[in-house]
Amino acid sequence: MNKYINKQIKELLKEEDMIAALSNISACIMENYEDLNWAGFYLVKNNELVLGPFQGKVACTHIPFDKGVCGKCYRDKATQRIDNVLEIEDHIACDSNSRSELCVPVIVDDEVIMEIDLDSPNTNRFTLDEEKEMQEASLDIAKAYIENKWPN
Ligand code: SME
Repeated sequence: MNKYINKQIKELLKEEDMIAALSNISACIMENYEDLNWAGFYLVKNNELVLGPFQGKVACTHIPFDKGVCGKCYRDKATQRIDNVLEIEDHIACDSNSRSELCVPVIVDDEVIMEIDLDSPNTNRFTLDEEKEMQEASLDIAKAYIENKWPN
């Protein structure tokens, strides 16, 4: 459990510009969590998921709601903590090295408005504590989204 990550994310959310804040949050997650190969956001736009600020390798830019771990996160409005993505039939491999994934929805007015997505080259990388940390971050981002009237 990283005691400081949520404190740092709350600090970063004092930035009122959405892209600036999310960019720093992706960097903050990458710095705080070990063994990640990707950390970032997918934003809901025009009935699909579109790549947002991230750290890591070049990634898929558009993901339909009916595809992959990110699509399931959207449809179920629920966190997906996947120990081995090779066991997920329609997992979208942006990086063939990825093995485990944590995808957390950010929900405003009962709608998923974006997702936090983390990938690791290690299987079983993500713990329940980290899932809770990212869910707390998601609630803080949702609050900032409403307060700052994002997307701005
Ligand atoms: N693996 C995801 C796609 C996004 S990348 O991991 C950055 C999925 O199956 O939805």
